[in-house]
Amino acid sequence: MKPQSYLAALALSLCAPVALAQAAKPQPAAAKPAASKSAEPSAELKRAQDIVAGRCALCHGAEGESASPIFPRLAGQHPEYMAKQLADFKAGRRKGTMNDQAAELTDEEMKALGAYFAQKKPKAYTVADQDIAAVGRYIYHKGNSYSGVASCASCHGATGDGTAQLPRIAGQHAAYTEAQLKEFNKRERTNDNAIMHAIASKLTELEMRAVAVYLSGKL
Ligand code: HEC
Ligand code: HEC
Repeated sequence: MKPQSYLAALALSLCAPVALAQAAKPQPAAAKPAASKSAEPSAELKRAQDIVAGRCALCHGAEGESASPIFPRLAGQHPEYMAKQLADFKAGRRKGTMNDQAAELTDEEMKALGAYFAQKKPKAYTVADQDIAAVGRYIYHKGNSYSGVASCASCHGATGDGTAQLPRIAGQHAAYTEAQLKEFNKRERTNDNAIMHAIASKLTELEMRAVAVYLSGKL
């Protein structure tokens, strides 16, 4: 796939320095979505709440804002993407700690868990090292035409918000993002790795770190 010229145009239109300013600005704490206040939670949501309280919260936090960078933040992630990853963990297509966690989840529970975390409002985080974040901002919006890396924004969106098939990667722990890029590169992240392997295999270690740091400060 070579949407390069379109990408370049897209990247140029997007890479205003505004993005970095936003990343540095602390945002007010997010308000709870109105929906969770009004009606009684549906049976599915109630089931998801119970599973989260009993298990997932330990590592990912009840609000999907995990404190440790080993555990990905799930707040605001796309429900379809999450349900698919859970199914992949259950089937062993993606390997790791999550294989045990997903082993007994039904399809309905995976969908409900995806919906539960998707409705959580992601928090904003600040980046300490603005220099490396600036390198990451360049890679994210423009890619690297010297090594043939497509801009991340061309798929994950200018805001890093993703789509149903594409994960939201904004606001993620830098260490988790960096670890995933390394896994994609080594083909250790075994599900759906074709696209991201092609990207990650062209990134240097500095670029991986830089783009991960940049993303951690994006809301
Ligand atoms: C013992 C800690 C632990 C528990 C408990 C846990 N997880 Fe995870 N989870 C992880 C780790 C670590 C990863 C990162 C992937 C990996 O290396 O296995 C992860 C990854 C994920 C991902 C993939 C995120 C992405 O961005 O691709 C989803 C979705 C997820 N967990 C959902 C859940 C749900 C839902 C539960 C409760 C049923 C749960 N997790 C319980 C540790 C945990
Ligand atoms: C051609 C489209 C495309 C481009 C360009 C792209 N990605 Fe991806 N990315 C994907 C897809 C598709 C997935 C989902 C893989 C899966 O389902 O497991 C993904 C997954 C990821 C994940 C895993 C997220 C998680 O929650 O575990 C990270 C991190 C990531 N991409 C970072 C990047 C970075 C950084 C760049 C730029 C250097 C980039 N991507 C460029 C398509 C793309």
